[in-house]
Amino acid sequence: MLNLILFGPPGSGKGTQSEKIIQKYKLVHISTGDLLREEVANQTELGMKAKKIMDSGELVSDRIVIGMIRKKLEEHRAGPGFIFDGFPRTVAQARELRKALTDYDEEISVMISLDVPREELVKRLLNRGKETGRTDDNLETINNRIDVYEKQTIPVAHYYDKMRKYVPVDGMGSIDAIFKRIVKVIDQLK
Ligand code: AP5
Repeated sequence: MLNLILFGPPGSGKGTQSEKIIQKYKLVHISTGDLLREEVANQTELGMKAKKIMDSGELVSDRIVIGMIRKKLEEHRAGPGFIFDGFPRTVAQARELRKALTDYDEEISVMISLDVPREELVKRLLNRGKETGRTDDNLETINNRIDVYEKQTIPVAHYYDKMRKYVPVDGMGSIDAIFKRIVKVIDQLK
């Protein structure tokens, strides 16, 4: 199985590149942001609680997110592999993912991290907010999401770096140029 983590700050292009990776490698896409937004849209109890947190740019609790991930892993355990987008976001989540994959005799193959400077992230997200109306794409929440990423999520990169699984990729340029860089990393794993 090929199990990838697509890592990077808000607006770095994780969702955009995930779509292309899934098409090429036929992986199962697990985006915790998308799963949470689905809960919000369906107005579930979990969704109601998550919405406030997401609109402020803070992280939803590890317990909730890990529960969602375990369910997805169980549903697709016989598949070709996974692409994790927006997860893990804390070291506790990374440890739990490791445990969950070990239960299926699996492990993370690589963490690909998209490097994009802050000013470009803000530009992309403000633009997406205008186009899609996503409620966390306003300046105040965007800045908080990037701050939260720097404080709570960057340690996850160090966690995988220690295991020699962290590969940074330049996330600037055209979508296709970035995709080519990602494909090069994945194809070197084979
Ligand atoms: P989540 O949905 O994961 O948001 P995020 O990490 O902030 O990432 P984004 O979806 O905003 O950006 P992206 O990197 O996918 O970029 P995209 O491809 O869309 O999380 C939302 C919230 O949910 C969190 O704040 C938190 O509250 C909660 N949450 C989620 N997961 C959690 C977890 N594991 N634990 C706890 N809480 C969690 O691109 C952005 C824009 O740029 C698009 O408009 C795109 O068209 C454009 N673009 C893409 N590539 C390029 C390019 N090369 N050039 C120019 N524009 C580009």
